[in-house]
Amino acid sequence: MKHIRNFCIIAHIDHGKSTLADRLLEFTSTVSERDAQAQVLDNMDIERERGITIKSHAIQMDYLLDGEKYVLNLIDTPGHVDFSYEVSRSIAACEGALLIVDSTQGIQAQTISNLYKAIEHDLHIIPVMNKMDLPNAMPDEVEDQILELIGGKREDIIHASGKTGMGIENILRAIVHDVPPPVGDSAKPLQCMIFDSVFNSFRGIIAYFKVVNGEIRKGDLVKFMATGKEYHADEVGVLRLEMEPRKMLGAGDVGYIISGIKTSKEVKVGDTITHVKGGCQNRVEGFEEVKPMVFAGVYPIDSDDYEDLRASMEKLQLNDASLTFEPESSAALGFGFRCGFLGMLHMEIIQERLEREFDMNVITTVPNVPYIVHTKKGEQVEVHNPSGLPEQTIIDWIDEPYIHAQIITKSEYIGQIMNLCLTKRGEMVKQEYLTADRVELSYNMPLAEIVFDFYDKLKSISKGYASFDYQPIGFKPAKLIKLDILLNGESVDALSTLIHFDNAQPLGRRMCEKLKELIPRQQFDIAIQAAIGSKIISRETVKAVRKDVTAKCYGGDISRKRKLLEKQKKGKKRMKQVGNVEVPQKAFMAVLKLD
Ligand code: GTP
Repeated sequence: MKHIRNFCIIAHIDHGKSTLADRLLEFTSTVSERDAQAQVLDNMDIERERGITIKSHAIQMDYLLDGEKYVLNLIDTPGHVDFSYEVSRSIAACEGALLIVDSTQGIQAQTISNLYKAIEHDLHIIPVMNKMDLPNAMPDEVEDQILELIGGKREDIIHASGKTGMGIENILRAIVHDVPPPVGDSAKPLQCMIFDSVFNSFRGIIAYFKVVNGEIRKGDLVKFMATGKEYHADEVGVLRLEMEPRKMLGAGDVGYIISGIKTSKEVKVGDTITHVKGGCQNRVEGFEEVKPMVFAGVYPIDSDDYEDLRASMEKLQLNDASLTFEPESSAALGFGFRCGFLGMLHMEIIQERLEREFDMNVITTVPNVPYIVHTKKGEQVEVHNPSGLPEQTIIDWIDEPYIHAQIITKSEYIGQIMNLCLTKRGEMVKQEYLTADRVELSYNMPLAEIVFDFYDKLKSISKGYASFDYQPIGFKPAKLIKLDILLNGESVDALSTLIHFDNAQPLGRRMCEKLKELIPRQQFDIAIQAAIGSKIISRETVKAVRKDVTAKCYGGDISRKRKLLEKQKKGKKRMKQVGNVEVPQKAFMAVLKLD
């Protein structure tokens, strides 16, 4: 165990985590240069395209220093706020962390919030200033920021470049010298902490864990404590570039277990694996059930695809336990599913995977957060859908989820950002200068306000110079009402939203205006109305038009005519018939993009 080092990398998106990890793998000959061309740690297509490490993984490398062989386990952490619980479990499996800061960008919000998590878990922090090959690097300024944040000595900050390989050896040395070896006891009862799992179509669910105490052997009868389910450890091993089976893993080791588990629901990140006989009494601390925080309806565009959609969702859920879904129906959209996501990015990813991997055409409705309705009878009902709101007369009050938000920005944008947070019902908690011109703002705000276009606005106000991170902090009472949208007098349930009373009037007006832009003119007038209860608060009209797209072609060119008609047909695919009105997919998400 003396020769094991478990570490993770803390970095803001795009600060070069994956590139640097590749260099470490290359330097330790864990991968050849050719393999490394494609970033090894992100192996899902979408991950690569978005450049975001979505699921955490782990990889083991050997490193020889002063004649001693060390085993270094790099535990990858996902880099987006939606996955913050997974990050915290990966961090909990380590004794050290590389803090990577892009020397052209400086410290960002995500870096800070993950750094706090690492410090909370007593990890040794190795500061690394990356992208030092770039001419616009600002080493002095960024060093000041790092020292301000974690203290320490200026000369301990490693200058590196994932591009040229500069600093890589120093990083490896620092890991061996400065990160303490794990402190477990192989003689104690088995305690393995799961920090991730993946689905493999041949082998089922593969759980990744760190042995905190005890020893686990192939063939052992083990129990997953959160679910109480028992399994045989069909295979245990370590994670090199491929999985490498081992007979035994002991305290401090990081590895995987394959035990015939079919669905990801049985394997919960943060859970403890122990032996059925002579196992441990207590779980490793910090386990939480992750709960979806954003809900939306997902409907097939073609109602015949309903069963296919269900099958696709079931498959997605096999490797993504944080996705939840249950059937729901909408008067406007027919049969579909109410899905729960960790956050907005998670929702986009699922939508994209449904389309790409399963060839499904879906409409996603306006997302909302979960609400807790307290009835006058003293009951509590969790509501995931505006149409599921109980009758107004029986509601005592409604609670909504709150978050703690951290924003880091240049000082010149503070005023505008404070205004934005104010309009989003934010309460300022702290304002702190990190350096002369960089400020950290923290706010408590309703999660619902973040779901609606907060991040886009923050970016445009700050011209991209603001970063943002958040953690849920519980529920608080809110004055909420249901806002309905009517098309030609018919309420469209899929366009209903639950929103704060003060925002209802302006939102209703803007939604009507936006829908007027998005709904194409049809052969009759379309009235668009916003209503609270039976009270209409806003109205717009889409004027009728007689549409003959081929008229312009003067009858001559048949093939051009056909092309035009085909194009029109394609355009229709993303339309949904609501009553007698054709509504484009975009309209259902309109509320997210109001200016
Ligand atoms: P996420 O996975 O999204 O968190 O990003 P990441 O932090 O893993 O960043 P990644 O390694 O994907 O690098 C982001 C971009 O910066 C890529 O275009 C890299 O080619 C580039 N990059 C990374 N390291 C360096 C470096 O040291 N120098 C230069 N010039 N570019 C770098």
